[in-house]
Parts: sequence; C-alpha cells; structure tokens
Amino acid sequence: MESMVDIQDLSIYRGKKVFVTGHTGFKGSWLCSMLTVLGAEIAGFSLAPSTEPSHFNLLAERSNSTIADIVDANLLQEAILIFRPEIVFHLAAQPLVRESYHNPVNTYQTNVIGTLNLLEAVRNCSSVKSVVIITTDKVYENKEWIYPYRENDQLGGYDMYSSSKACAEILTQSYQRSFFNLNTYPEKHQVLIATARAGNVIGGGDWSKDRLIPDIIRATIKNEKTVIRNPSAIRPWQHVLDCLQGYLILGKALLEEKKEFAEAWNFSPYSFESRTVQEVASITMQVWPSIQFEIEKNISHHHEAELLKLDNSKAISRLHWTPKWNTKKAIEETINWYKKYYLEGVVLTEHQIAHFLGI
Ligand SMILES: NC(=O)c1ccc[n+]([C@@H]2O[C@H](COP(=O)([O-])OP(=O)(O)OC[C@H]3O[C@@H](n4cnc5c(N)ncnc54)[C@H](O)[C@@H]3O)[C@@H](O)[C@H]2O)c1
Repeated sequence: MESMVDIQDLSIYRGKKVFVTGHTGFKGSWLCSMLTVLGAEIAGFSLAPSTEPSHFNLLAERSNSTIADIVDANLLQEAILIFRPEIVFHLAAQPLVRESYHNPVNTYQTNVIGTLNLLEAVRNCSSVKSVVIITTDKVYENKEWIYPYRENDQLGGYDMYSSSKACAEILTQSYQRSFFNLNTYPEKHQVLIATARAGNVIGGGDWSKDRLIPDIIRATIKNEKTVIRNPSAIRPWQHVLDCLQGYLILGKALLEEKKEFAEAWNFSPYSFESRTVQEVASITMQVWPSIQFEIEKNISHHHEAELLKLDNSKAISRLHWTPKWNTKKAIEETINWYKKYYLEGVVLTEHQIAHFLGI
C-alpha cells in the first residue's frame, strides 16, 4: 500500500533550507514567495532578472541570492556547499521555444549542462535529501493527437527548447540509476529525485518575450492591439500557483523519504480545460476591456505544436494534488494582477498566495 501525501499540510517547509535555481524568473520568484509564506529558509542561484519590470525586483522579500551562470559548475557547487540545503528546486533554464531557434547552443548549455552541473553539485553535497527538477509539458514527442500525454509516453521534442528539456529528463533518470538508485536507498545514498512537467503557466509578473499574456499586457499598456500567432493552438493553461503547489507537494513527499514518489510527474489542468490561444485572449478582454487583439495573417514562423494536453491522473490519484483554479479563474487572477499593478501600483502576489492557500 502506497503512503499518502497530505496536501493541505505544507508545514514541513517551515525552517527547511531550500535551494532554488531560477529564483529571479517568473516561476522561481513566485516559488520563493510561497516558500517564504511557508517559513522556509531560501537560497537562490540565477542570472540577474532579464526583464524590466521583473517580478523578482518587485517583491520586497530578498532571499540569499547568488547571481551567476549555472554553466559555471564551480560557482554552483560553491553556492550549494555553503548553504547546505535539504531540498533543491531546479528551475533555471532558457525556457522559450522561439529563443531556442535563435540561440540553440545557449539553450542546450543552460538546460542540459546546467542540469548536469546541478546534479553533480548535489552528488557532492551530503545535506541534500530531495531534488525536484522542473522540465515542461513539451518533453513529450508531440504526435498532435487528441489524447493527453502520460508520464510514460515517449520523450522527444521538435524544437531545441523541447528536446533540451527531454534531455534533462533522460539525464536525471541516468543520474538516478547510476548514483541515486532507489534499490540502494537509503543504505548507500540518501537522495531522492523527481521531475515535474507542468502546463502552460500563466500568472502576474511574467514579462517574458513571445508568451501570450505578457505580449497582451505589453501591447495594452501602449494602447496597441496584440497580434496573435497560432490562434487555434491548444495548450494546458495553468495558474502558476497550481503548478507550484504541485512542485511543493512532490518535494514534501521526497522530504518524507517516500521513495516511490521519486519519478516523473505531470501537473496540469484537467484535459477538458485546455483552451485555444484565441479563447484565452478573448477571456482576457472580458477581464480588462482595454485589451484588443488581432489575428496574425499569412506570416510564416517557426514550428509550434498545434495540440498539447497532459494527463494529470497520476498526480491526482497518488499525490492527491488537484488543480484548484480552472482555466477561466487562472486567466482572471492573472489579468487582475496586471491591472492592479498598472492601474494602482499594487503587487498582488502575497494576497493571491494567501487566497490560494486559504490562509
Ligand atoms: N512558464 C511556463 O509556461 C513554463 C512551462 C513549463 C515549464 N517551465 C519551466 O519552468 C522553469 C521556469 O520558467 P520561467 O517561466 O519562470 O522562466 P523565466 O525565464 O522567467 O526564468 C528562468 C530563470 O532561469 C534563470 N537562468 C536562465 N539561464 C540561466 C543560466 N545560464 N544560469 C543561471 N540561471 C539561469 C533566469 O535567471 C531565471 O531566474 C523553466 O525550467 C522552464 O523550462 C515553464
């Protein structure tokens, strides 16, 4: 009988030393905010924020922060050895499909060599007991089929971003088999590693290039129309807090030494919630009527999958994680974050975390 994970109780993070790579980014900065609310002691390792404004810079709380390149194995190892964390969340990545067409080498260096450096640093740091490696919904070989992908479906990746993340999955499996084998846990080593594949994550404070909501917000504040690419593409849109709660529940299971959870997990909305790009854009207009968009016509651009859904049954049945906010609510909370920021100068992050966690 498999042990249960009590999702309501994330109190295990109180006083825990948590190392977060990618803490200056969109998801990493939200994760650090959540961990702060949960009472964790955090150290982050990332490049400086790459957007202006940036969610990281807007937050009052400053974690112990190393600004450095994850490709530099020595600096990463030093940061981990000095902090001596119990758990690591690895989010640092070049996360954009379009950018990966322009900069394939940097994408692979960051996403694959960066993950290699992280795993090697963990191997050399005896305090680390749990590692959650963040990959993506795009790690699956996309067959453009209507079925949601399950964790045991074939890995692949058409573009350099997707394939680099699939490589990070294979690399993690290889480290697990070679150095952190579950058959020799806990006698020969004490490290449990899992990977997490989330949906298309949305939330306030993302100003990345070539992402739908940030593109819409940038255009709106300039009183311009957003030009929508791939209006019919279907994606599993998910609020950042739902995705992060999945990572935290998974990390909790590993911290509780439940070795049966040291594997790959999808955290995505229910597949019936998947929406087209155009449907998402239309909902944003209902929340903020200033938003205007038009569909891009006759312009060729890089290949992007049309249809992508993830199967979340495993996380629901075994980790007892469930998506809390449906896609409409996720879009509403996201647009409200930006509206409040641009119209009133208020950062809603802590308020939304408290609302989400019910505290
Ligand atoms: N946002 C999404 O929709 C989504 C969906 C699925 C998976 N992911 C994954 O989640 C993670 C976080 O994504 P995000 O949306 O917050 O991206 P982001 O671009 O906002 O943040 C990326 C972070 O990685 C850091 N980073 C990049 N290159 C680095 C390097 N060479 N050395 C050190 N740090 C480096 C950046 O400084 C930043 O802190 C990534 O692993 C991404 O692949 C994101």
